[in-house]
Amino acid sequence: MANHSVPSMPICIQENISLKKFNTFRFDATARYLAIISTLDELRDATHWANYHAIPIKMVGEGSNLLVTEDVNALVLINRLSGLTLTERENDYLLTVAAGENWHKTVTYTVDNNMGGLENLALIPGSVGACPIQNIGAYGVEAGEFIDAIEVLDRETLTTKWLLKHECQFAYRDSRFKHDWATKYFILAVRFILNKHHEIKASYSGLSDLLPLEPTIKDVYKSVCQTRIKKLPDPNLIGNAGSFFKNPIVSQQQYDALLRIYPDLVAFPMKDNWKLAAGWLIEKAGWKGYKKDGVGVYEKQALCLVNHATDDGKKLMLLEQAIKQDINDKFNVELEREPIRLV
Ligand code: EPU
Repeated sequence: MANHSVPSMPICIQENISLKKFNTFRFDATARYLAIISTLDELRDATHWANYHAIPIKMVGEGSNLLVTEDVNALVLINRLSGLTLTERENDYLLTVAAGENWHKTVTYTVDNNMGGLENLALIPGSVGACPIQNIGAYGVEAGEFIDAIEVLDRETLTTKWLLKHECQFAYRDSRFKHDWATKYFILAVRFILNKHHEIKASYSGLSDLLPLEPTIKDVYKSVCQTRIKKLPDPNLIGNAGSFFKNPIVSQQQYDALLRIYPDLVAFPMKDNWKLAAGWLIEKAGWKGYKKDGVGVYEKQALCLVNHATDDGKKLMLLEQAIKQDINDKFNVELEREPIRLV
């Protein structure tokens, strides 16, 4: 490593850059500093420079789980670390993927090579490095189930290390990277473990209708892609960040009380609790297809908020607040935002 005692601004850092093309909602705001990171050395240099000048750092992947509402007085790093290595063992494959690689491309690579595990997670927008943070999940599978270890850069010491799966505390749309590790590490690579005796999971309602009796990995992949294309807005065509709210988890007692009033309530049983379909609550409250001030609720999936025609992410925040309030008033349920606000 170069001598970092008095760091000058690394050449990868640019000043006063629009964030519009770096978030899938396509909201506009300015980053005071921004750098596109392609190598570990660039990441170390940029981090060291920012640490030295006490400038906060925000790491971004493809910006598909991000809410941009105002100018950011920080160094925004766009993770474009690339590369993939595969090791075949007797019973499984170890697949190590750099954080800046595209998630769907990675899933497609595994399916094309008949490696099972990630097929239910096809077409989720975003990068590989983002997947462990919120433990992305869809159609009965969560990424954390297949993660073996994660390579990180310690933001203080600038040293790298591997964190093991059991340390990551994966839960529904959650991990330690959202809590005590949020400002401690940058994710460099994710190692997946894909068992050769993989059990296909195809029972999620809506998915199973499209599948043959004994589906292959590729069948599941195709069916997931079809389902997502049908229900979810393509971020290349309409600004969005996937599900805008988490599905709220409520107690058995609260579930029973709601069910008495709403016999058609949609919910999924968990170990001791129930996970409510937030899309159902929002639709029931009358928000599906709502449009105002250039933002709205997607007409085919009420859990997705969309940007129809504005640069101003604050408009979406107002819609978020209005929906949260209404769901609280009507069902006594608190919704929690899923995308991370860049501030
Ligand atoms: N529903 C409605 N109205 C709606 C939307 C949903 O009534 O407008 C009800 C339907 O009964 C439907 C049920 O809710 O059957 C569940 O809907 P869906 O299968 O679309 O799943 P979801 O619970 O709304 C979650 C994830 C999605 C993931 C799907 C499929 C969260 C926050 N979202 O959505 O993830 O693709 O399940 O597994 O857990 C994302 O995180 O960005 C995302 C898209």
